[in-house]
Amino acid sequence: MNRLLSRNIIRQVCSTKLSKMSSSNPSTKLKGRMFSVQAALPKYPVAPLEQTMDKYLRTVKPLVSEDEYNYTVKLCEEFKNGVGKELQGRLLKRAESETNWLSDWWKNIAYLDVREPCVINSNPGVLFPKADYKGLQGQLDYASKFIAGLLDYKVMIDQQTLPVEHLGKNPLCMMQYFEVLSACRIPGVGRDDHVCFPPDKPGAPKHITVLYKNNIFEVPVYGQDGQPLSTNQIRAQLDEVVKLGAEKGAPIGLFTMEYRNTWANIYQQMVKDKATKSSLESIQRSIVVICLDDTNNTMNDPRTISGHQMLHGSGSNAHSGNRWHDKTIQFIIGADGYSGLNYEHTTAEGPPIIHIMDHCLNFISKGKEWSPASGITPPTKLEFNLSSDVQTSLNAAKQNTDKMVNDLDLQVFVFNEFGKDFPKSQKVSPDSFIQNAIQLAYYRYHKRPCGSYESGSIRMFQRGRTDTIRSCSIESLAFTQAMLDSNVSKQKKAELLRRAIDSHKKYAADAISGKGIDRHLLGLKLIAIENNIDIPDLYKDPSFSYSGTWRISTSQVPAKTESVLFFGPVCPDGYGFCYNPQEKCILFGISSYKSNNTTLPAQEMAELIKTSLVEMRDVMASSMRANL
Ligand code: COA
Repeated sequence: MNRLLSRNIIRQVCSTKLSKMSSSNPSTKLKGRMFSVQAALPKYPVAPLEQTMDKYLRTVKPLVSEDEYNYTVKLCEEFKNGVGKELQGRLLKRAESETNWLSDWWKNIAYLDVREPCVINSNPGVLFPKADYKGLQGQLDYASKFIAGLLDYKVMIDQQTLPVEHLGKNPLCMMQYFEVLSACRIPGVGRDDHVCFPPDKPGAPKHITVLYKNNIFEVPVYGQDGQPLSTNQIRAQLDEVVKLGAEKGAPIGLFTMEYRNTWANIYQQMVKDKATKSSLESIQRSIVVICLDDTNNTMNDPRTISGHQMLHGSGSNAHSGNRWHDKTIQFIIGADGYSGLNYEHTTAEGPPIIHIMDHCLNFISKGKEWSPASGITPPTKLEFNLSSDVQTSLNAAKQNTDKMVNDLDLQVFVFNEFGKDFPKSQKVSPDSFIQNAIQLAYYRYHKRPCGSYESGSIRMFQRGRTDTIRSCSIESLAFTQAMLDSNVSKQKKAELLRRAIDSHKKYAADAISGKGIDRHLLGLKLIAIENNIDIPDLYKDPSFSYSGTWRISTSQVPAKTESVLFFGPVCPDGYGFCYNPQEKCILFGISSYKSNNTTLPAQEMAELIKTSLVEMRDVMASSMRANL
């Protein structure tokens, strides 16, 4: 999602020494069905400079004054006729020699260099539809089935038989799927590390990590015959975990909620102890983390309460110690039917994670089972010997966690008036319709537009991740202003809405096909730094930082189920909006910070979204009637 970039990019890009990491090209073994088109995928292109400048100016225009805009026009002219030409030439050269000119840079800049906690700022949470179980036995049954579903899915990854994912008719890069069940982030001072044990390499994981009452367990999920354990065998492993973990352990998972440099310093002390080092490595090498949580004991808006549980664990006195946020995927199984997940972003975007989740939920509903494995190694409780210094750090981690958690406002809700069906019936893109509803909701309260980010997938290209769809446009501003003007007719409002939707759809189509501007502008800046060329004035222009400060940070993460994803805002005075459009409803996760007195509480912003969607439907539907 990479929204943190806005906050960090200028500071980091200027101060980071750019080390050239080896490009991890797909190995020659990756030839199964899953990779059948991988080698034929196009390389991520470098967009023409003139095109990027023109588009950039169009996105700046609705956000700044006329004088500011004219100054930016002048800077763009100077850039494209001056140093920009040289930087473009150097970037094109880099693109020739790399599988993807951006991907190695991106991993560092967007994730591993970021020093803020990954929790809330970068790791999204996902809430599953409520399942029909209650209490420990139901929870363990559900967890066992879920893990069996995960192993069922893993077979397709290991054997490279997973079908290639498509966006429209275009096949997508599958590398994220390959790595997602074997990766972990490791804290480092200045820059984190990222390890991966993919299925085609020695040391590929055969165990999961389970957290129960803050205790951490290595739980083998394959027999010595190499077969995955059956659901009943997994259940027996979890029974053992519950027996061994009856007493609450030290909440060392809280360290993974810390600022990264703080955690890195603690980590360096912890690995001095041999047993502790080996325990940490066991977590890093595992397939996934499973968190078996206590109940939330709440009747009041359980969806939102459980949303907090999935995003950050709800504080040191609730579930936050029962987490390991460095691990790529943590599945969180609550004791009250609410379950979900949390994921660390370095390895993958939401779609592969949601695909795995959909598979597991479908697996549970079908009740598939296979023959038992033989030669089962029982779970081991991992040993952590904490020095007194590390124990002292744990008290600070509790306080820091609670401060961070208490500041986050979140609202998880279902908009039930319509879903994708209405925009489709009007022959417009549902995603562009929803994006304009977000623009309208924001404008309604703040009375001005702001820099707006939507993730657009560039996985059509080898090793592609995302580019930004800048959702605020000249057309979206004209539409939002008209909607709040009682002198404008419904017919005119509908016309402006259609224009705003078309404009968004065009930008989105460009962004996903390699014609976005944000990654290109980033590449030009990074190549300047790498070659000791002064940062061009274009990047020091207030319009550049204003238009790229994502006060609206959004992502569409569709799922087959009524699940919903959410994340924190990426700037103090911003909002996070995530949505899963279903045919007849739309699920939203909306966040803001309580400490900021310029933004609305998430629940009030949710109300504005609902109002905006309904008004837009009414305007469109009535203009259609008028045309009949
Ligand atoms: N008339 C009728 N139907 C239309 C339409 C139109 N004019 N335009 C679109 N539709 C339909 C589509 O055919 C599609 O139908 P389906 O529900 O049967 O599949 C549906 O509406 C959705 O299309 P749309 O709303 O336009 O969105 P999209 O699926 O094309 O997604 C993006 C747009 C930008 C979200 C997508 O390209 C993308 O990049 N997704 C990845 C984002 C990501 O990585 N997120 C995770 C970050 S962690």
